[in-house]
Amino acid sequence: MNQPVMGGVAALNVPAYIKHQKLINWVADIAALTKPASIYWCDGSEEEYDRLCQLMVDGGTMKRLNPAKRPNSYLAQSDPTDVARVEDRTYICSATKEQAGPTNNWMAPAEMRDTLHGLFDGCMAGRVLYVVPFSMGPLGSPIAHIGVELSDSPYVAVNMRIMTRMGKAVYDVLGTDGEFVPCVHSVGAPLAAGQKDVAWPCNPTKYIVHYPETREIWSYGSGYGGNALLGKKCFALRIASNMGYQEAQQGGTGWLAEHMLILGVESPEGKKHYVAAAFPSACGKTNFAMLIPPAGFDGWKVTTIGDDIAWIKPGADGRLYAINPEAGYFGVAPGTNEKTNFNCMASMKENTIFTNVALTDDGDVWWEGLTKEAPAHLIDWQGKDWTPASTGKAAHPNARFTVAATQNPVIDAAWDDPAGVPISAFIFGGRRSTTVPLVTEARNWTEGVYMAATMGSETTAAAAGQQGVVRRDPFAMLPFIGYNMSDYFQHWLDLGSKIGAAAPKIFCVNWFRTDADGKFVWPGFGDNMRVLKWMLERIEGKAGGVENLFGMTPSYEDINWNGSDFSAEQFAQITSVDKHAWIEELKLHTELFDKLAYHLPAELTDAKAALESKLAS
Ligand code: OXD
Ligand code: MN
Repeated sequence: MNQPVMGGVAALNVPAYIKHQKLINWVADIAALTKPASIYWCDGSEEEYDRLCQLMVDGGTMKRLNPAKRPNSYLAQSDPTDVARVEDRTYICSATKEQAGPTNNWMAPAEMRDTLHGLFDGCMAGRVLYVVPFSMGPLGSPIAHIGVELSDSPYVAVNMRIMTRMGKAVYDVLGTDGEFVPCVHSVGAPLAAGQKDVAWPCNPTKYIVHYPETREIWSYGSGYGGNALLGKKCFALRIASNMGYQEAQQGGTGWLAEHMLILGVESPEGKKHYVAAAFPSACGKTNFAMLIPPAGFDGWKVTTIGDDIAWIKPGADGRLYAINPEAGYFGVAPGTNEKTNFNCMASMKENTIFTNVALTDDGDVWWEGLTKEAPAHLIDWQGKDWTPASTGKAAHPNARFTVAATQNPVIDAAWDDPAGVPISAFIFGGRRSTTVPLVTEARNWTEGVYMAATMGSETTAAAAGQQGVVRRDPFAMLPFIGYNMSDYFQHWLDLGSKIGAAAPKIFCVNWFRTDADGKFVWPGFGDNMRVLKWMLERIEGKAGGVENLFGMTPSYEDINWNGSDFSAEQFAQITSVDKHAWIEELKLHTELFDKLAYHLPAELTDAKAALESKLAS
């Protein structure tokens, strides 16, 4: 794999099948800046994947798991300081600060380019520059877009092969002049001649930078997940949300890039709907996307299109169609087990990369929640001996698995359909121990956009920082909107007006209300099917509902309780709307709206005023 180094500049050695001169020139420019020892053009083959994994096993970055327990699977343990997305180091460098808006970090593009130029100069010394071509969405789909990531991390190259359609075929779609999003990534740990590498190179200085005008991504200092696999949060959410908005600004219908899972639900009569649901990071999106209907729901089937991101565009019939731009799942392992997500456990039986979980003595993996009882001895996520008496966790709370979507036993037949699937409903759900009821249906699009815009959630381990604090997380997109949030709200309202009656219904859910002892009241997981069924019946005009403060909510009798002993009292506990709590909640909406005052749509301030006057009456 090592290619000749000539006069300090790595030889390009462009494969003959690449005919895109602009791309070749860009790779040459980045190599001249970052000064890698060699350049390697990924072809996406299995042989290449195996070879790079072996390289990391040899170098100490990954361990091969026991093939009898977990065939063709690996465990990577990251540096303890590089375990989550770094939102405070994430920038949207649009031309003006207003375009990035008050919820994004911003620096003037020229200033950021100067800073990054200094950091990237020579940052790949002693390393291989991997050229990783990928398609977000089915190759050649009219909804898909291409990216090319240049990275000095083989961990990134192999994870990208699972998470995206990565490899040679992308160059066929690009041809000689196709468009691609250039993504540059470095762990920021150059090696001097003869210097021995560490298992997980990274740098305490981190920058995750997006230039929306030129649609570029630059990431420095981290090898972890959403900081480094640039097709995911950086491209498929931040850059893509901006692309969808810009298309509308230029006179098109516009489109949406959302932090949403997409699932299919089929009734015993064979009627099928697709819904897209937004939840903040680490709030059980993968579980919901692979839900198994509970006992008493014979004949109902739930299938997965995607577990994290949806790209949504109006189709020729006026309805909204969605694709999953990803090809794999980068899910949170802790809490996942045969009961909470049987299909997910089945998906990661083999061919899986685990990151920051614990290692068992027989060469398999373990994390908190996998089994009731922890094994007597483990190697924890930091490589240290661990027993149930140890104080720290065996797996990091944001430990992950990377697995191909095709390994999901309930993958939807249309998951790879270039045309996407028609969406019947949007679901928005925060993690709130109080205040927000189990489910509410918005009476119209504006009311739904208001609910999504004012969503709050208790923070989780997916991002660095304090956990369990309520923060406003509009559309579960707070860390992912690549432009001004108020313009994003307007874009949603405008799209709703354009599609009119074909617009999906919007629901707001909260699975996470707790009792006086802090225990979850709603069983969640498979029981969420009960709520889903009510939603579908509402869409079909079949189910009843009662009006609450903000929309329609089911009464106890409107829900199918087959096979459940959930009582009317418990139901009342999680659907109650406490007037005083809501008066306080509305004050937080006011705080949010004050922060977002620039370009905030009048429809949303009107919706808030209507709620306030209802609460006052
Ligand atoms: C994720 C996240 O990794 O939302 O999906 O942080
Ligand atoms: Mn996510």
